[in-house]
Amino acid sequence: MMTEERKQALSNLLRPASPPRSVDNVYTADQIERLLDVVRKDGPWKLIIAQHFASADELIATMSGALPEGFELTLDMFLTPTFRGFYANYSAALYPEIEDCFYNRAFLDHAKSYWGAKYAKPQMMLFNINGPCGNTDPGHLDSPSFRGVRYENSPTWLCSVMGKSGLFKDYLIKMAQVITWFSHDPDSGFTYWPDGPLRAPQRLQSPIYNRGVVVQNEMMFHRGEANGPVAQQRPAGLDFSTTFSGDPNDRNQWLLTSGDQVIARHHTDELRFLVHWSAEVFEDFAELKKNMDGSHDLTHEQAIGMLIDDARARGFDIATPSDPLHDGAFIRAINAAYDIGGPTSYPQCAPVTPLYITEAA
Ligand SMILES: [Fe+2]
Repeated sequence: MMTEERKQALSNLLRPASPPRSVDNVYTADQIERLLDVVRKDGPWKLIIAQHFASADELIATMSGALPEGFELTLDMFLTPTFRGFYANYSAALYPEIEDCFYNRAFLDHAKSYWGAKYAKPQMMLFNINGPCGNTDPGHLDSPSFRGVRYENSPTWLCSVMGKSGLFKDYLIKMAQVITWFSHDPDSGFTYWPDGPLRAPQRLQSPIYNRGVVVQNEMMFHRGEANGPVAQQRPAGLDFSTTFSGDPNDRNQWLLTSGDQVIARHHTDELRFLVHWSAEVFEDFAELKKNMDGSHDLTHEQAIGMLIDDARARGFDIATPSDPLHDGAFIRAINAAYDIGGPTSYPQCAPVTPLYITEAA
């Protein structure tokens, strides 16, 4: 279907603007306390996967990795006890007490210097939080945005396929993230593939407490690694409705709850807490203006049309969909035209946690 040469070409597209840069002592102790206080006060927080995907097809478009023949893919197989909430979105801080973390001069300087660009503005800030946790993620790309087809107004799978295709470079919103970890696990880290998913990965290793990287995660495969004792990485009772919250009776304790059952409890020191800050970056004033005034925007119809035309020209049999944004068969077919299966090698000490496929088999 896809030649080796084509796979290499697609892999080469998936390289960031610059290699990741590491940053130490990212937040002050006071900022860390305020960031955690939001998590304490405003929970319960849902599983990441329950917030972002409505179907397995949508998920598989962003997560590469094929299953053995005869196995049915279900969302449950990807269930890991990791939770998410937003500190800021649409360039606005959602909590005044962390405004200094979001409108952050040092971060803006990192973002601009990473791209060699003139302007940047904070776009979004979120946290991922978990206790001991497996990681079935073989590596993924964050959702890119394009002028007119942005992660805010489009399905994740569409932005993801557009990014992988290399067809929309002129429309790509340049972004940079400052991703910071707070974890005391001596073995857990962050794997990334800066030379493309078919090349060898690199790894940011512990200690990763208040340590971060400046990255372009929409164009670089990456993944968090499993953390904590293996026996606790998938607590009994974990399901799609499980939530994470601070223990109202003890500020150093955190609870995982399914229905009215507390299924796990962790001390702050056992957590893996990640703060993701992202900015849009503009090379110069012309790019800033173009990106903001909507004069050079794509529509969803144009984007889908370009993908279909290109995939057909490359010999893929793509039926014309009636509801392209939600048609599972179409999503699978168009993804197959640009999907190279994701990373092929992993750090020896950080393998992928096997999928929990027993129920689906
Ligand atoms: Fe990511």
